[in-house]
Amino acid sequence: MSYDIAVIPGDGIGNEVVEAVEPLLVDVAAAHGVDVSTTWFDWGSQRYLDEGALMPDDGLDRLESFDAILLGAVGHPDVPDHVTLRGLRLPITKGFNQHVCKRPSYLFEGVDSPLKGYTDGDIDLVVYRQNTEGEYADVGGREHRGFENEVAVQASVFTREATEAVVRPAFEAASERDGKLTNVTKSNAQAHSMVFWDDIVEEVSEEYPDVEVERLLVDAASMDFVRRPDEFDVVVASNLFGDILTDIGGIISGSLGLAPSTNINPDRTYPSMFEPVHGSAFDIMGEGVANPLATVLSGALMFDHLGEDAVADALHDAVAAQLADNDAPRTADIGGSAATVDVTDELTERLI
Ligand code: NAI
Ligand code: MG
Repeated sequence: MSYDIAVIPGDGIGNEVVEAVEPLLVDVAAAHGVDVSTTWFDWGSQRYLDEGALMPDDGLDRLESFDAILLGAVGHPDVPDHVTLRGLRLPITKGFNQHVCKRPSYLFEGVDSPLKGYTDGDIDLVVYRQNTEGEYADVGGREHRGFENEVAVQASVFTREATEAVVRPAFEAASERDGKLTNVTKSNAQAHSMVFWDDIVEEVSEEYPDVEVERLLVDAASMDFVRRPDEFDVVVASNLFGDILTDIGGIISGSLGLAPSTNINPDRTYPSMFEPVHGSAFDIMGEGVANPLATVLSGALMFDHLGEDAVADALHDAVAAQLADNDAPRTADIGGSAATVDVTDELTERLI
């Protein structure tokens, strides 16, 4: 098989990890008889500073024919965060109906959790986050700027179609995994949108009688991600709640530098996009010390989505073996002092 992958390294450490990881993904695929060709797009904050837009007007048209997209991160100290997010990542996730943001959290052997008493495999959960609407809908505005009565309105949007589009695969995953799904909600305070959300979860649950459904308010769920993460299996959440919970999921599993992410177009009319959970990390960018493994694991999820299970498994297993090896180079976020490329060089050696 052969695949065309669009690569958007973006800003800061997004650039650094993608540059280090892309050759590894191509070479490991080739070693399994899978031909990957990549096309790089230098879109991001530098383009915004030079030309006034993070990507060209026809950006989506240029991406549409690819089999998948690999993204680093966007975010720049000189560009407001809402400009970077709304200028690149959101147009792609929304424009390509990438309704499902699937983010696994796994505590690998050899990685310390900040939580006491948790070791390898104790944390093994996956969050299905709604990815195209909800609290991140671009609906609202500001009025009376600069006056005493200045006002901002930001509305949430929940549609049946896009809610079902994330709830159904979450149930599907739960029935294939441990048969437990946690619905994260806030229907006590948000009696319109989140009650609607709960209704849809309940409706879809009737199709999956083998899946046990737990309902948690998002504040309690945040606490329980810290108090009893071992009890979660599949978690389904709205855009905002899923965003917050997956940063917690990342850090309890050792580091954001190990947390992969996917943006899936469920009906496969458009390419899906794969990226680390983390951003461009102003505090360490330019130093070449970012952990590249979140991006490697995102690559594994990309091959899994493309149906290339052997490549996906090889990448995932090599990351697990390398983390379990005390003598292998590791970056500072997980207790080492290695550079980004030391980690990918070692991984290449294990894999090829
Ligand atoms: P961040 O994820 O960039 O960094 C948070 C913390 O985690 C920092 O201390 C950073 O050093 C550490 N960290 C993250 N990834 C790491 C890695 N691979 N290796 C080692 N340490 C790592 O989040 P922050 O600081 O809130 O955002 C920085 C910029 O990134 C902002 O402009 C933000 O908007 C943007 N951002 C972009 C995202 C995206 O493109 N998908 C996602 C999150 C943030
Ligand atoms: Mg986030």
